[in-house]
Amino acid sequence: MAVLVSDAEAIRTVRIDRPEKKNALTLAMYTTLADALEEADRREDIRCAIIAGHESGFCAGNDLNDFVAMAQTGGLGAPILRFLHALARGMTPLVAAVAGNAVGVGTTMLLHCDYVVAAENAVLSTPFVALGLAPEAASSLIAPRLMGHARAFELLAMGRPLNAQGAKEAGIVNAVVPATELESAAMIAAHAIAALPPQGVLAARRLMRGSADEIAARIDEEAEVFRQRLASPEAREAFQKFFSRKK
Ligand code: COA
Repeated sequence: MAVLVSDAEAIRTVRIDRPEKKNALTLAMYTTLADALEEADRREDIRCAIIAGHESGFCAGNDLNDFVAMAQTGGLGAPILRFLHALARGMTPLVAAVAGNAVGVGTTMLLHCDYVVAAENAVLSTPFVALGLAPEAASSLIAPRLMGHARAFELLAMGRPLNAQGAKEAGIVNAVVPATELESAAMIAAHAIAALPPQGVLAARRLMRGSADEIAARIDEEAEVFRQRLASPEAREAFQKFFSRKK
């Protein structure tokens, strides 16, 4: 299992656990992530979920081997879209704990979280365009709203990484803490959210996030472009370059 799910005291922890591949997400991992979020919504005793990674890295994005396979079949894995829709439509408040690299969907999933804690060594990046791809997870909608077009362009189109402090200034991250305090800071935030009146949190969150239908529609619109980009010569060349890179 490369995604571990555990529950304690109203908090569900969903931990991406594939450190040997820098927590890159396979289709099976997306399925577990979607299951975990959807089940949290159905469970009245779960009041908040934490998405965590490994101390050596939060998530290196989609598994690039899967992207190569998808480029050949012309599809975009259904589990990916299921997870992205679970983020868009989910009701459980989400806290994220980010250390090291958060690449691609590792960064864009944070835009759906309600409270993000970053370790001082966190680096957020979305090298979509450099990989011949396009923004996903409704990041093309949410990021410009959050930080304005200029800064969103730098992140999503130019692929310029944000360090922890930069991500805080951009409005993605709430708090930057030493790596040793990351997990406890995330847990404290999750407990604070879980202690609030649940229906009140639900209502506030729904109002603040805006239309889930709009977000879901953007995910689908981006997915169509993403599918085409995956099969492009630009993407093929970028994937080859990654897998043939010298260590
Ligand atoms: N898909 C598949 N495998 C990946 C991966 C990914 N997204 N990211 C890392 N890996 C694998 C590497 O191939 C390597 O495997 P190997 O040991 O069998 O060769 C292993 O994870 C370790 O990666 P490595 O690149 O050696 O680690 P690093 O610490 O030097 O760099 C990253 C970490 C995350 C900066 C770098 O791995 C990276 O850029 N990954 C690709 C990120 C990406 O483009 N994601 C898609 C975004 S849309």
